[in-house]
Amino acid sequence: DVPGLIDTFGRVARDLRISITEKCSLRCTYCMPEQGLPAIAREDLLSASEIARLVGIAVRDLGVHDIRFTGGEPLMRADLVEIIRLSSAVAGDASISMTTNGIGLDHRVRELVAAGLTRLNISLDTVDRDHFARLTRRDRLPAVFAGIQAAKEAGVTPLKINAVLMRDTLAGAADLLDWSLANGVRLRFIEQMPLDADEAWARDNMVDAAELLDVLGARFSLSQPHREDPSAPAEEWIVDGYSLNGGPATVGIIASVTRSFCEACDRTRVTAEGTVRSCLFGDDETDLRGLLRDGSSDETIADWWRAAMWGKQAGHGINAADFIRPLRSMGAIGG
Ligand code: GTP
Ligand code: 5AD
Ligand code: SF4
Repeated sequence: DVPGLIDTFGRVARDLRISITEKCSLRCTYCMPEQGLPAIAREDLLSASEIARLVGIAVRDLGVHDIRFTGGEPLMRADLVEIIRLSSAVAGDASISMTTNGIGLDHRVRELVAAGLTRLNISLDTVDRDHFARLTRRDRLPAVFAGIQAAKEAGVTPLKINAVLMRDTLAGAADLLDWSLANGVRLRFIEQMPLDADEAWARDNMVDAAELLDVLGARFSLSQPHREDPSAPAEEWIVDGYSLNGGPATVGIIASVTRSFCEACDRTRVTAEGTVRSCLFGDDETDLRGLLRDGSSDETIADWWRAAMWGKQAGHGINAADFIRPLRSMGAIGG
């Protein structure tokens, strides 16, 4: 009934990802440059109430069902609880989730849940402290463990762990799965996309899903995948002989590069500066911040948002010979 965010390929975006900061407490090599991203001026960042206004428009006027806050690292925003509280007040039945590196979560997870956060995805690529320090350029693995533990104790479900596949950490993938099973969290591996600020990604050196399955297969028995939701990026594999929260244990693989799910994409993104980005890989952005600040009506903002999504590109095109990387890196878009 609501004229939603449809594109020329007939896809409808119901999943909104909002980046709320470019700052991060880690410097993962597949995402951030060593020195961090250039700081966004305070007045250029959307405020908590501007973010919540966009959430309200997305839910009421544009048919969005799921809201996810990303960054950078969302926990770097001092007003994160306020953002979630104001957003959940206007989000109706939409879920409110967050993707985080978990650092500092132990101090804030209860408040966040009380403010309306329903689901959490935490990024963790390895359980080996040295590998972690090298990959993230920060020796903070214990802080991430503390965050995950606190989220479990706060009763956040589902709680998922995201691990980006890298050459250096591939050998530890089975240890990470072992750890996830022992700790009762759902693990998903992700193929690395060419969104690293350092531009070190190379198609022929990328760890793909097939290679991961070989490594995991040496320690675990995995059975045939079944795909429930075609727009869900992860393919779930059953880990035979293990259980997770009372059901069969699964491990997910998000094969964004080798088995892209762009034809079923249901995402719309807003950057920390308030532009709509229709695709991770589409640099053509539409500014909403100006409209939020010049007295434009919700209706006008919704119209611009629809127009932005109408022009969404077919997909990332990573596998095409003429692929060109987008100008922004993952941390600057919102993962
Ligand atoms: P769930 O709703 O819990 O399944 O979350 P999600 O998978 O949508 O979100 P999350 O932030 O945990 O992202 C997981 C991974 O999917 C990210 O690390 C990205 O690598 C990848 N990803 C996220 N958004 C997109 C996207 O729009 N396109 C593609 N190709 N990959 C994406
Ligand atoms: N490719 C794939 N996933 C990435 N992420 C960050 N950079 C990349 C990349 N280049 C992941 C993070 C986090 C999510 C938001 O995006 O690990 O889980
Ligand atoms: Fe959607 Fe673009 Fe991501 Fe493909 S790359 S899944 S089209 S946002």
